[in-house]
Amino acid sequence: MTRPSNTTPATSVRRRKPAAKQRHAPGHTHEPLRFPRGFLWGSATSAYQVEGNNAQSDWWEWEQKKGHVAHNERSRMACDHYNRYEEDFDLAKQYHQNSHRLSIEWSRIEPAPGEWNWEEVEHYRAVLRALKKRRISVMLTLHHFTNPLWFVALGGWEHPDAPRLFARYAEFIAEHLGEYVDTWITINEPLVYIAESYVVGEWPPQYRSYWRALRVFRRLVRAHRLAYHEIHAEMKKQKRVASVGTAQNLISLVAYQNTVLNFLYVRVSELVWNELFLRLTRHTHDFIGVNYYFHQRVNRKESGGFLYVDVRKEKRESSDLGWEVFAPGIFDVLIRLGRYHTPVYITENGIAAVNDDRRIRFILSHLKEVYHAIHAGVDVRGYFYWSLLDNFEWDKGFGPRFGLIEVDYKTMKRIPRPSMLIYGQIAEHNGIDHSLMRFLGHGVQLKDVCPTCLIKPYGTPH
Ligand code: GCO
Repeated sequence: MTRPSNTTPATSVRRRKPAAKQRHAPGHTHEPLRFPRGFLWGSATSAYQVEGNNAQSDWWEWEQKKGHVAHNERSRMACDHYNRYEEDFDLAKQYHQNSHRLSIEWSRIEPAPGEWNWEEVEHYRAVLRALKKRRISVMLTLHHFTNPLWFVALGGWEHPDAPRLFARYAEFIAEHLGEYVDTWITINEPLVYIAESYVVGEWPPQYRSYWRALRVFRRLVRAHRLAYHEIHAEMKKQKRVASVGTAQNLISLVAYQNTVLNFLYVRVSELVWNELFLRLTRHTHDFIGVNYYFHQRVNRKESGGFLYVDVRKEKRESSDLGWEVFAPGIFDVLIRLGRYHTPVYITENGIAAVNDDRRIRFILSHLKEVYHAIHAGVDVRGYFYWSLLDNFEWDKGFGPRFGLIEVDYKTMKRIPRPSMLIYGQIAEHNGIDHSLMRFLGHGVQLKDVCPTCLIKPYGTPH
């Protein structure tokens, strides 16, 4: 404990050399920011974005058409993670990650309705075992945007039977692969899927209809509830405990100017985007999964309608994709979840940045906010950076670089970035050492402070 300076006897100060602690202002320590014991430190991927060759999926068919994906790229072999998962998991382990979030490609497991591909089941068994062998716990997603072609031919998520078909697949996975799974995500970002595929119409099946969107919303709510119960029932049969939830894309929203209409719009958006799905599926979340990327400033004045203020116009810090970097937003989002009294995992948080210094700053600034949220009482149990490696960013193609590991798509060589090392140090010590805080400052580069690092910090061509 540092004694307040005005109570320190003057004589003792003169006699002794000040101890390290006394050099800091009262209340300011150089202790590491420690995370709760057993905290999960991992990174996330999704099957379609990394595996390659997912030819039975609706995305595969869709991306063949010109103009759908930026620069007419196709996912093709993606990162060839389907064959190189051991190498990728070795790196995760080497850099001290103790958990990994990945997904199963439904179209591989069930290429035709009710027909199971046992070879693929064995493939995923080998993948999950490879994680377990490295003592990396498994967070498994069952639906991460892509659908089997046969499912889409039936009408996809608009079909009344869609929830039941999804739950049947969930039950199958629980029965055959459940023994390796520690945490289950039924559906990734239901609202993003609905918005991109049924409202803005940028992703397959490219509809722009609020009616269709509403229908799909109802099906996804039901699908999650059914899958939740199926997984629990199956795991109970196996005498295992299941922890099941979803991964929600949660946005931090603020009114740009203090007008009643702006506040109203913020509240309605929060309700629809951040809360509705959780409310309609209540009692079926053993935890809440948070994907945090977005902070939006709402301003009615922009062109008369309700619009978000363009970060570029204001020259705010943003990612290579133009998404504003706003770390305090993750604190706001977490604090608001406090009302659910449910454990929370950050199931995704990451930045598209060719310049890795920005990724380091991003990770540290966001983790610092997560630390504060934990201290404010939110039960956060893990953090998964998006993504372990560079991958296929949907309609944006391979351009955006989200990875802790750089992928050279010509050779499929994996090159860990400096951020992988920094994140690894945090994971290893279950906390952020004070010395890492210097990276929060702009212009501090790893090569300046860590010349003996094991990995080549700079100069890797992108
Ligand atoms: C999503 C998905 C990921 C993305 C990531 C970066 O949020 O859209 O879960 O598949 O690749 O979020 O955009």
